[in-house]
Amino acid sequence: MAQAHPADPPGVISPWAMVVRDGRIAWVGAPADAPREPEADVGEDLGPALVTPGLVDAHTHPVYAGDRSDETAARLAGAPYTGGGILRTVTATRATSDDELRELVAERLRAQLAAGTTTVEAKSGYGLSSQEELRALRIIREVGATLPLRVVPTLLGAHAVPPEAASAAAWAETVASEMIPAAAAEGLAVFCDVFCDRGFFSPAEAELILRAARAHGLGVRMHAEQLARTGAAELAVRLGAVSVDHLEQLDPAGVAALSGSGVVATLLPAPALVMRDRLPPARALLDAGVTVALASDANAGTFGGWGQMPLVMGLGATALGMTADEALAAATAGGAASLGLSADRGRLAAGFAADIVAWDAEHEGAFALRLGAVRPIRVWIGGEEVLGPDRTLAGG
Ligand code: NIG
Ligand code: FE
Repeated sequence: MAQAHPADPPGVISPWAMVVRDGRIAWVGAPADAPREPEADVGEDLGPALVTPGLVDAHTHPVYAGDRSDETAARLAGAPYTGGGILRTVTATRATSDDELRELVAERLRAQLAAGTTTVEAKSGYGLSSQEELRALRIIREVGATLPLRVVPTLLGAHAVPPEAASAAAWAETVASEMIPAAAAEGLAVFCDVFCDRGFFSPAEAELILRAARAHGLGVRMHAEQLARTGAAELAVRLGAVSVDHLEQLDPAGVAALSGSGVVATLLPAPALVMRDRLPPARALLDAGVTVALASDANAGTFGGWGQMPLVMGLGATALGMTADEALAAATAGGAASLGLSADRGRLAAGFAADIVAWDAEHEGAFALRLGAVRPIRVWIGGEEVLGPDRTLAGG
């Protein structure tokens, strides 16, 4: 193999070699130093291919039905973004059978895997009743069990205020007192998220929900500072959120608040571009020492691209002003940090999960040069090859 990612241990060595044992990376280094592996039964020469950790897409919304491309066109012609669109998806999703939703989710997650994502976060959020949100989480679990990629489920019961609720405050109370305990009791979610923004949930409502989530053992993450600067970033710091996502409207005070907090900034350039929004201050966050993740935010209404993490890395390195190295690190180690998995995933180093992608490229600069057109040629998850010349997608 050639081209270790420079940010990864053991630094720049080319050519280099890796030993995988029992699903984990056992050793990485120069080929001449490779430990003898008399038991090894598979040896691979990947030639000049760029090899990276499997991508970690730490922000997606896969459980939905319906089509809102007309709304996107209207928005680009000047219509405002409101909660109306989310509620349209809620209506379409509620009217769709479990079988159909499972097929839609499977198709989306297979597209993710085919584009090099090996760990994906998956949110509910288009059901907006306790029953429908739990149904979405069960579908995520069922589909995840049929695919080799690793799925991290998130409850997003506070994505919008459903028509049945009296107010955002009343809905926040229902999410906190009914939905979170039910999801936690069934072990359906690892994280709880809230759309804390102008016109959606206030910081006080988000705090009520996220404190309940923490009390039930869920990790905390937030949609924050996307439409307006609300102080959600500071709330995320106060609550010890694992990640705060979007941040298009973050100002220098918000960057300072995140600096040194340990909260990961998960940036989503694709929907920001689709919405012709400001771009999040990636450079300022990196310069302030904040751990940055890049994720797709694939969803029903603001970015519909599944399997586009190579494009997202390219956008990180072009539109967001990151270096190609930083963009790759943000989509691997950064994504892992955003999901609380820093010790296990996102790096090609001894002890880490053997989630590995070999690309049809020779250098990470290709993600910028070929915006969206770089594809995996081989993918391994836990040391098992799941995509390659002799293999179509397992579970497909
Ligand atoms: O992350 N910001 C909130 N939620 C999604 C959009 C959801 C929708 O419009 O359907 C997002 O961009
Ligand atoms: Fe989102």
